Amino acid sequence: MKEIIPRPQSFVLAKKGGTFDLARIDGLEIDQKFALTAPVITDILQKGLGKELKKDGENILKIGFSAELSPQSYRIDVDENGVKIEAGDAAGALYAVQTIRVGAMLGTPKANTVAPCGKINDYPRYKWRGLLLDEARHFFGEDEVKKLLDVMCMHKLNVLHWHLTDDQGWRIEIKKYPLLTQLGSKREKSQIHGWQSTDVDDVPVSGFYTQEKIKEIVAYAAERGISVIPEIDMPAHLAAAMAAYPWLGCREIKRDVQYFFGGKIPLSQGIKDWNRSACLGKPRTMEFIRDILDEICELFPAPYFHIGGDEAPKDEWKNCPACQEMIKSLGLKNEKQLQGWFINKVAGYVRSKGKRLIGWNEVLEGDNLEKDVIVQYWTPQRDCKVIKHVKKGGNVVISKHKYFYFDMPYALYPLRNTYMFNPYFEGFISMYDNNVKGIEGALWTEWISSPSKLEFQLFPRMEALAEVSWYGGPKNYKKFLQRVKDYVPLLDMYGLNYAGEEIYRQPNPFTRVKTIRTWYGGNENVEYEKNDNKY
Ligand code: ACM
Ligand code: ZN
Repeated sequence: MKEIIPRPQSFVLAKKGGTFDLARIDGLEIDQKFALTAPVITDILQKGLGKELKKDGENILKIGFSAELSPQSYRIDVDENGVKIEAGDAAGALYAVQTIRVGAMLGTPKANTVAPCGKINDYPRYKWRGLLLDEARHFFGEDEVKKLLDVMCMHKLNVLHWHLTDDQGWRIEIKKYPLLTQLGSKREKSQIHGWQSTDVDDVPVSGFYTQEKIKEIVAYAAERGISVIPEIDMPAHLAAAMAAYPWLGCREIKRDVQYFFGGKIPLSQGIKDWNRSACLGKPRTMEFIRDILDEICELFPAPYFHIGGDEAPKDEWKNCPACQEMIKSLGLKNEKQLQGWFINKVAGYVRSKGKRLIGWNEVLEGDNLEKDVIVQYWTPQRDCKVIKHVKKGGNVVISKHKYFYFDMPYALYPLRNTYMFNPYFEGFISMYDNNVKGIEGALWTEWISSPSKLEFQLFPRMEALAEVSWYGGPKNYKKFLQRVKDYVPLLDMYGLNYAGEEIYRQPNPFTRVKTIRTWYGGNENVEYEKNDNKY
């Protein structure tokens, strides 16, 4: 049995030795409490063992509940007569089965059903282990999302942070504002060759999820132990909505959905609206946001809503009579505080619906953020306000650029960065351990237009993300690299693309620098084109 990814916290072989052949399992009994994940558990085992598992049989795999175990935790006990699983909840039960399936490589040409006798006692280091998927910049659709959910589940990741709106596209049906998708989900073309380029392609991008489809995907995720948290980015990164409803801006300017992701083009056009901020002085903006939240919160049962809140320019607010009047009437010091006031207002609204707000670390800018807002820390530069927030008892999810921005080239951020991540390097000393809610990898898609490239950027980074967010023990990068190689048949089982070893390791500093230069110089596919897919 190979060492799995993520590594279990404790795996003790039986002193006497011995093995049990999983192929002998002919029945399955799952505690009623695990009804949510039971169909997926059954499916994984049946497909993996190549047989139907009924409730009776000579050798039943029993998956029982234990009140001693916390949520997401499980124990596996293998002796010469069989396998017994206990779990703290439906997710824990599923993780136990994933451990067995991955350990025995079930369903792959490398399958080995002979398991050593011993005990596994496993639980996550962080309760929040997430992946951000940006479907605003490019749209991948239901099949790719479900595929990612399947693989996330295999890696014991449990949060899909779904970035559904941005300047370049609005991808979720809102019944009260139909133009959001009728106009806001379509653009004619896309900027190519990097943020500073003026080149564009001629490939239209469109697509959105109906509310029915959202419900279906959210339910699909739940059966895999995954919460889906929607992000509707505001008050900036809202230009697709402004294309549909220009009155959302301080100045009502009719614009198409943006085809550029930043840089020179918007400046040459005289309106810096690749992330123009919405007007916070007009009551209609807040009404729009409340209406949207009313529909969104119904679709996503997770007790969180992501407001984005990043990269909000203040220039429109400075010149807007309504925004200035709002600052004055609220007794705020400046535009940064206007942003903080707005975030708190939305936090209050989602709180009234039983949810907590989460936002990117810029939400701390105004120094007036309420403590219960979860801060997602992404900025490449250190933000002392994040540490202050944590010191005051606030929560943080870590997505620091250097380790977790999976859209960036491997030459800049090799696999080692992600694997070696340690919260202490970023100022989170151990006394704040409980305030770090978790970790998320981010897959932004400005420069990713196909599922194949999406997967290339993501694998094997997802393995490192799983390891650092689940397993809290010592690290050994060399061994990890071997484990990543051993894992390939499991990725192949899902038909995934992934980066080759030369690319994800980046051992040569000269080629690294050359690749980074080429990437920033305008060939965002430099690594992808070179990829030979071999580990
Ligand atoms: C971000 O990358 N603007 C959160
Ligand atoms: Zn305004």
